[in-house]
Amino acid sequence: MKTVICKTYEEISKAAAEEIASIIKEKPKATLGLATGSTPVGMYRELINKYENGELDFSEVTTFNLDEYYPISKDNDQSYDYFMRKNLFDHINISQGKTNIPNGSASDPIAECEKYEKKIEENGAVDIQVLGIGQNGHIGFNEPGDYLHTVTHITDLTESTINANARFFESESDVPKKALTMGIGTILKAKKILLLANGRSKHEAISALLDDKITTAIPATLLKTHPNVILICDEEAYYG
Ligand code: F6R
Repeated sequence: MKTVICKTYEEISKAAAEEIASIIKEKPKATLGLATGSTPVGMYRELINKYENGELDFSEVTTFNLDEYYPISKDNDQSYDYFMRKNLFDHINISQGKTNIPNGSASDPIAECEKYEKKIEENGAVDIQVLGIGQNGHIGFNEPGDYLHTVTHITDLTESTINANARFFESESDVPKKALTMGIGTILKAKKILLLANGRSKHEAISALLDDKITTAIPATLLKTHPNVILICDEEAYYG
């Protein structure tokens, strides 16, 4: 795993945007795997800057997001659909038909997950998958447990995740208890993985990523089996 340790959040955001930009410049029809949450917001801002400066063209880019709460409507300002529009899609020249996010209001969530996984497979490999990391080591919404899922599936969120994400909602009881998420296998199929981590609260999970053990109790440790992972983090996440 290649590791880049940054001094500030801004530095993380710029380094991450550079990684994405170089892929799009080399391959205008690139497929990006995208994440939500607070960590990638600065990276999206940098990508918008690059688009506005004429450095990047998103017209042929395809995106697949990692996950979405369930149930949630696209208009809910806490949905990941809304997040992506507000933080990236509304500000760049991406074609709406090329953006993909699991449908949090699907009447049959299992069928929705199967459809999503199939669409990713038919599209061909994701060129770069952006990941944040949960304090409990989750990636996407693959939560710690006795086993992990390989493909896109519906999952219960853990207490720790509901608690961590309550900051975005009016109250903790408003946080959806389930999510639709790519599986660990879906994530590991990406050609390259870009993992971003910021702040001391991520130190424990990042430490587990840097030793030589793999455990389903810390899902991010499965990334050790992937040959092309770049970790971009700050000193607090890295050193504690
Ligand atoms: C978001 C996602 C989650 C977040 C993780 C970290 O699409 O899949 O795994 O990346 O919960 O969230 P933040 O960045 O808010 O700390």
